[in-house]
This record gives sequence, C-alpha cells and structure tokens, in this order.
Amino acid sequence: MNATVFSEPLKTDRLVLRLFAENDLDDMYAYQGLPEVARYLYRPPRDRARCAEVIGRIGQGTHWKEDGDSLTLAVCRHDTPGVIGEVMVSLSSAYAGQAEIGWVFHPDHGGRGYATEAALALRDLAFQQLSVHRLFARIDADNTASVRICERLSMRREAHLIENDRDDRGWGSEYVYAILAREIEPAGTD
Ligand SMILES: CC(C)(COP(=O)(O)OP(=O)(O)OC[C@H]1O[C@@H](n2cnc3c(N)ncnc32)[C@H](O)[C@@H]1OP(=O)(O)O)[C@@H](O)C(=O)NCCC(=O)NCCS
Repeated sequence: MNATVFSEPLKTDRLVLRLFAENDLDDMYAYQGLPEVARYLYRPPRDRARCAEVIGRIGQGTHWKEDGDSLTLAVCRHDTPGVIGEVMVSLSSAYAGQAEIGWVFHPDHGGRGYATEAALALRDLAFQQLSVHRLFARIDADNTASVRICERLSMRREAHLIENDRDDRGWGSEYVYAILAREIEPAGTD
C-alpha cells in the first residue's frame, strides 16, 4: 500500500480518519507528550522533535507489502477542528496476513467512544482493503480502557502473558487479543 492507495479520508458517524500532515504537530504533541498517555505504550512520551520526525514518516502514507509496513491515521471530529488521537495498524507477517492494531487518544476526548469508533473503522479497513487474515492487539493487563476497546471490537482474549515485561515500575503482564477476517459479520447483517 502507498499514499495513493489510501487517498480518501475514511469517514465514520462522528469522525474523519486521514493521514497526518505537518501542521498536525501541535495536536499530536498535545497527547503524545503526556506521561499518562505513554504509560502503557512500552516507550517514553514523545517530545516535539520526535513527533515532527514521526509525522514526517507516517504522513507520507505507507507501503503495505512487507513485514513492518504500517499505516497510522490521524483521527479528527466532524464537529471540532484538530486531531484528537490516532489509530495504527502494522503488518507483522505479510505471508500470514497478521497485523497488529493500536490506538492513542488525547484524554480530553476520552469516554465518548471516539477511540472505539476509529478502531472499528480501521479494523474493517484492515480486513476489507489490506487483506489482513488475523488482527491482534497486545495490551498491558492493567490497561483496562484498551481491554474494553478490544472487546467492543469483538476481539477474543487469546493469551495472558504473566510478567513477560519489566520497567521502572516493576513487572508487567500482557493480554493478546485477536480476531480473524472470517469472524467479522458482513455489513448489513443483524
Ligand atoms: C486507550 C484509550 C484510547 C481509551 O480511551 P477511551 O476514552 O476509554 O475509549 P473510547 O473513546 O472508545 O471511549 C469509550 C467509553 O466511552 C463511553 N461512551 C460515551 N459515549 C459514547 C458513545 N456515543 N459511543 C460509544 N461509547 C461511548 C463508553 O461507554 C466507554 O466507556 P467505558 O470504557 O467506561 O465503558 C485511551 O485511554 C488512551 O489513549 N490511552 C493511552 C494510550 C494507550 O494506552 N493505548 C493503547 C496501547 S495498546
């Protein structure tokens, strides 16, 4: 996949998902710079320079062909300007059609279902347009908000890895959630 393949913004009831642009830097930094947002991301918060670097890379769109290729979309509300968060999918195995999904949102826009709505749209895009066979998520077991998103995406908890990670807070455990393409009901079914 490349930028021309993802040419049209993806619209949902309340949101638009599109590629990042240079002038989204302030909006991205507003959430990616927050320690509470990075808490479960397996990496530190991003500073402004790092956000600019990331936008330079992901804003170009992406190839969707080889292991490691990925697509990150900025999420905007219809009713207010600016980027409120992002959803991403990355190809872990091109041969086996395995892809990982993730989401990061500004806490100011939390608790209204925006992350779930955007993740559902990306889940469907992954299956319908990116030929993904199995979509999975790796979630810190303490990240209950993300666990709830996985469940709203009809993903199944396939693994609970006990103390498979460690950081300055101590040991961390992880859930693996997943769903197969054939488990998604075709649009229009009850
Ligand atoms: C994970 C994260 C995106 C979840 O945010 P969130 O606000 O809980 O998720 P949503 O936007 O989907 O909102 C869901 C909540 O809105 C509620 N809601 C309110 N109005 C709603 C509506 N119109 N439609 C749907 N849900 C609505 C839901 O009931 C739900 O509440 P609940 O979780 O108490 O059941 C956010 O916490 C985050 O960005 N965290 C930091 C990054 C991170 O950890 N990412 C995951 C790494 S794997």
